[in-house]
Amino acid sequence: MTEPAIGIIGGSGLYQIDGVTNVTEHTIETPFGAPSDVIVGGQLGGRQVYFLPRHGRGHRILPHELNHRANLYALRSLNVRWLLCVTAVGSLQEQYAPRHIVLPSQFFDRTSQGPAHTFFGNGIAAHVSFADPTSAPLRQLIVNAARELGLPVHNGGTYVNMDGPAFSTRAESETHRKLGFDVIGMTNLGEIRLAREAEIAVATMAMITDYDCWKVEEEPVTADAVIAHLHANADAAKKILARVVPQIPTEPNFPEHRALDAALITDRKYWPP
Ligand code: ADE
Repeated sequence: MTEPAIGIIGGSGLYQIDGVTNVTEHTIETPFGAPSDVIVGGQLGGRQVYFLPRHGRGHRILPHELNHRANLYALRSLNVRWLLCVTAVGSLQEQYAPRHIVLPSQFFDRTSQGPAHTFFGNGIAAHVSFADPTSAPLRQLIVNAARELGLPVHNGGTYVNMDGPAFSTRAESETHRKLGFDVIGMTNLGEIRLAREAEIAVATMAMITDYDCWKVEEEPVTADAVIAHLHANADAAKKILARVVPQIPTEPNFPEHRALDAALITDRKYWPP
């Protein structure tokens, strides 16, 4: 088995990582199908990393078309044990402005379709604990790095996952605000659930691109408005990643790395891959 590695899933605007050496490319087929793209491996800050662009290079895959199971299975098969997700989100609260970074500590599922976000079934039964979906120590490393860089970062908050690909109506946006959610996106929850099942510790940099459509004095969110902030956010994410990666522990000894110990799993010999 190769050394425990760090995975990075890049979102809209982030299709590669700077400064990676000894680059390798991994075309992986999984029992759940193919991941979004070739996974690019290499060394960053003395650590083995694997990068996967969530939507594929050239942004070919819409949120509801993503094969999260293939993506997470492929990363875990490369011995990824820590995962940093970068994802574009809308802000549901005044204090999170475009180009701010929120590190979600909670998730709320408002999706209604698509495959179940689980590796289990077909004879393997397990129920992982999901009360605290993201890793507090990983979030802290990101907070420290962002603050050193002078970037606006907020540790904690609730990410509501909607279906897409259309953005929300005003009624939906207002409802999400009233329910106290902080940011909204279309992709991250499946990754976070599957990371837990795969005993991968995970944190997400939710990069704000817009105020959704609740802020009536602003133009309703459009794809153009979103893209305008994507490039700045991608640059910020790359700088943070370069600082965080070398500080991640080398031994997988976070509680998430033992998630299946208390998951009532019927048969461990088939899992993790
Ligand atoms: N991704 C970026 N902005 C978004 C928004 N307003 N709603 C859902 N997903 C988003």
